[in-house]
Amino acid sequence: MPNKVDYLRISLIDRCNFRCQYCMPEGTELDYVLQQELLTQTELLTLLEAVFVPLGFTRFRLTGGEPLLRPNVIEIVRQIAALPQTQDLAMTTNAFLLAGMAQDLYEAGLRRINISLDSLNSETFDKIIGNRGRSRWQQTWEGIQAAYQVGFNPLKLNVVVIPGVNDTEVLDLAALTLDREWHVRFIEFMPIGNAQLYSERAWIPSEELRQSIRQRWGLSEGQVKGNGPADVFQIPGAKGTLGFISQMSECFCDRCNRMRLSADGWLRPCLLNETGQIDLKTLLRQDTPLDTIRDKVQFLLEMKPEINYKQRDSGTQTGVYSRTMSQIGG
Ligand code: GTP
Ligand code: 5AD
Ligand code: SF4
Repeated sequence: MPNKVDYLRISLIDRCNFRCQYCMPEGTELDYVLQQELLTQTELLTLLEAVFVPLGFTRFRLTGGEPLLRPNVIEIVRQIAALPQTQDLAMTTNAFLLAGMAQDLYEAGLRRINISLDSLNSETFDKIIGNRGRSRWQQTWEGIQAAYQVGFNPLKLNVVVIPGVNDTEVLDLAALTLDREWHVRFIEFMPIGNAQLYSERAWIPSEELRQSIRQRWGLSEGQVKGNGPADVFQIPGAKGTLGFISQMSECFCDRCNRMRLSADGWLRPCLLNETGQIDLKTLLRQDTPLDTIRDKVQFLLEMKPEINYKQRDSGTQTGVYSRTMSQIGG
């Protein structure tokens, strides 16, 4: 029985203030979406109210690029949180701008935040995010602290583990959960974004990371399950949890519960498979009746179990997708 698909990940913007090596490395030419091609706030709300909510979507996540770069992001949060059907409203951010915005986001109705933090070492961090100026680690860390103090719960930290870059920090990052209620999640590097880095470095199976954590502290298995793709574990006695997102070693497509809306209004049934995607923005701008748009989305929902990473389209010759997470909407 396929999962209920009731979770929409909404990219608010494809731009980012970081240039993570695995996502949009410096030197790559990305064709950013032009301002007039972004789905407007009104278009987004219309789609949610007239298309997604009636089809049973109740959980929304704002992503990017970096969603905090989107003008009026607080107002967008307020409007989505105010929809009576919204049961869960979350954001995935790099936290660089979060310290100054966390309180307003919370007051607008955002309750959950996932933050990318790939290293606790400022030099490694700057290298990963492609920063050559004054270190950006401290301001990012302050963003994380601010989110915690404001009361975002759960607070999740995402670590993309790249062999030879940050894999030596796995125990240090896991240790953050010992005395904090944070959820640290280790993500297997996926073949999307930086083809060269992927082919040089590849990915480390989550089980290997679990083994080193188990040796150090022990690890309780499968105690807590999240909504998303993470398998959740806990160090005995720790306040927080450890999640493992293992798309490469243990495909989780069968339990996929989500669709993605890109910043320029394309609805995509799968992160790594473009089959069937719909240009909702153009349909809206051509004054297509909302009922018709809803029918098209419903059709795609019905097809979704057949469209996933396992049955992916040809993608690219190398098997690495050149579209970045920032373009698709993380
Ligand atoms: P919650 O469980 O609701 O907190 O969300 P999440 O873990 O799905 O959200 P987050 O934005 O933090 O995603 C973490 C990582 O999971 C992403 O960066 C991806 O690496 C991976 N991921 C999320 N959704 C998908 C998906 O649909 N397909 C695949 N292959 N990976 C995904
Ligand atoms: N593989 C795995 N995760 C990735 N992200 C971006 N690119 C990749 C990739 N190639 C993750 C980031 C962040 C989220 C937006 O997407 O770590 O948590
Ligand atoms: Fe920006 Fe996220 Fe991509 Fe890093 S992974 S460059 S923070 S969009």
